[in-house]
Amino acid sequence: MPVYVDLDGSAEELRQTIYDGNLIVLTRLQAVSDFVEHTRRQLTDLFRPYDPEHAHEHFDPEQMARMLGVWKPSFIHSDISKKLVCEIIREAGLPAESTHYDVPKPRTSFPTGHLTTGIAFAFPWHRDVWYSAPAQQINWWLPIFPVRADNSMAFDLQSFDRAVPNSSDGFDYYENNAGRLTTAAQVTRERQARPGALDHKPQHELVVLPAPGAVLLFSGAQLHTSIPNSSGRARYSVDFRTVDAGDLLAGGGAPLVDAHSTGTAIRDFRNVADEGSFDEETVTQLFGAPPPGAMLVFGRPPSA
Ligand SMILES: [Fe+2]
Repeated sequence: MPVYVDLDGSAEELRQTIYDGNLIVLTRLQAVSDFVEHTRRQLTDLFRPYDPEHAHEHFDPEQMARMLGVWKPSFIHSDISKKLVCEIIREAGLPAESTHYDVPKPRTSFPTGHLTTGIAFAFPWHRDVWYSAPAQQINWWLPIFPVRADNSMAFDLQSFDRAVPNSSDGFDYYENNAGRLTTAAQVTRERQARPGALDHKPQHELVVLPAPGAVLLFSGAQLHTSIPNSSGRARYSVDFRTVDAGDLLAGGGAPLVDAHSTGTAIRDFRNVADEGSFDEETVTQLFGAPPPGAMLVFGRPPSA
């Protein structure tokens, strides 16, 4: 499967290319560079006087977890972050009226032996659709500092539409939302909080290394993993997701060959043009009625 760089096509072609299992890198969006600058400034302020890529040499894992535990939520929910995400989407040519987005998540990957759990967890082979993402989800991933083959992420493109054994049948989106409110020790063991592939050994692993200022787009159905960081440098990236309302209603999107989770993340998405969410009637029609008392969105009181 090819990796497209600066695909020259309509918004529909761009989305379909991704649903078909291809990767796209966009290198010419000013808003991505603006987002990188914004995030770099924040990280530089957070770790001052130290270089963010070497911050792990100056703070122990507990200090780091505390600092990131304060910074990450403030970054995720700031108006400037949301504004920059919407600008990236518009500049990429996706229609604001039908595109919905989720808040941007900063990811940190520290060298092996430092903070690699909890807030800096390294994901094993997984598809986001195993975490109840819709088939129409597109992931946007952008590095903040230069990424390398020994601290980035890898794809198994050949398994895009081939079922692989996985633990997604133990994942429920609403239970996961509720579980995130309690400590890890209190989360029940029966429900797998982080679905992953079982014993997965890909024939080929593809590593794409966009420069800061570029963004990598891939389907939420792609099988991907974090590469354990042996680079000596901390890796910082930001990712967010989009869903097109027309594709959602038309039943488009990527093939779901082995997703067995329950619940849906669709209520997390907001419209780029007016911040509206998908109406509950539509969501229920497409994904089924949630059980009474389910925590449909993290942090929001459970439904009646
Ligand atoms: Fe993922």
